[in-house]
Amino acid sequence: MEYRELQNRIRELVKEKNALLLAHNYQRAEIQEIADLTGDSYELSVKASKTEAAIIVFCGVRFMAESAKILSPGKTVLLPNAHAGCPMADMITAPQVEALRAQYPDAAVVSYVNTNAEVKALSDVCCTSSNAVNIVRAVPAKKVIFIPDKNLGSYVKTFVDKEMIIWDGYCPTHHHVYPEEIKRLREHYPDAPFVCHPECRPDVVALADRVTSTSGIIRFTREDAHRRFIVGTEEGILYQLRKNTPDKEFILASHGFICPNMKRTRLEDILLALEKRQEEIQLPPAIIEKARLPLERMIEMSAAPLSR
Ligand code: 13P
Ligand code: SF4
Repeated sequence: MEYRELQNRIRELVKEKNALLLAHNYQRAEIQEIADLTGDSYELSVKASKTEAAIIVFCGVRFMAESAKILSPGKTVLLPNAHAGCPMADMITAPQVEALRAQYPDAAVVSYVNTNAEVKALSDVCCTSSNAVNIVRAVPAKKVIFIPDKNLGSYVKTFVDKEMIIWDGYCPTHHHVYPEEIKRLREHYPDAPFVCHPECRPDVVALADRVTSTSGIIRFTREDAHRRFIVGTEEGILYQLRKNTPDKEFILASHGFICPNMKRTRLEDILLALEKRQEEIQLPPAIIEKARLPLERMIEMSAAPLSR
């Protein structure tokens, strides 16, 4: 099938089956183009929790679809490509969280949403890149175990006066972009602000004019008066940036900014997902019950977006 035909067929099925097609800002352009809603992890989890649709088709990675299932256990949640995982989420396991809890019994566990459901079930509250600073500030505990992203954890630490025990996880896509690349681009485009995601290394974040979530990057480049920007996150975001502000120029900070997992999902997978209800996210009810609390707490506690 031609790609336009595929897109049309998918839209027909979405309507027919009373489904909601969600796409993360890193998804392929042809998927974002036909999604009902696009957004960052926080926005998509909130949208998933409020939908009236019977089926949520989550074009993103597994932890995002799991979060949708945890927040809407009565709904069918489909992850069109079962292999779309997140290597950072797999860098911490439930037994490792249990061990941390035993080692630091007076600390609160704040887990980035980029974690598996079993890990969320052992957490006090979740956070995303858009609310991490506010969440860590707001938890009553003086000591915080922050999992699994050491880069986001280090970024948050610069804003809060709390003891933070930070896990050694990272996003392979963001972590392997280095300050030298950014400095070279800055010399070449001195008029362009550098805006990056907090999953970048601290020495990259230190060079940024703005540090924010994927949707925060979209908002910043729309509202800021500059005409071009150096963009420090996964290349899928360029679709939204160019759509929102076609008159501005966006320079991807590195050729390495590609998340192979976000790129696994293709239009063909979405069609099959809708036709065959696959892959349906299934989680043990006890995990759903426990993991729901930290996600709901995050939504309640979220206030101003993270920015610098
Ligand atoms: P956002 O929540 O900013 O969309 O980020 C999700 C993610 O996986 C970044 O790598
Ligand atoms: Fe995970 Fe990094 Fe991909 Fe985001 S970009 S889904 S953190 S591997």
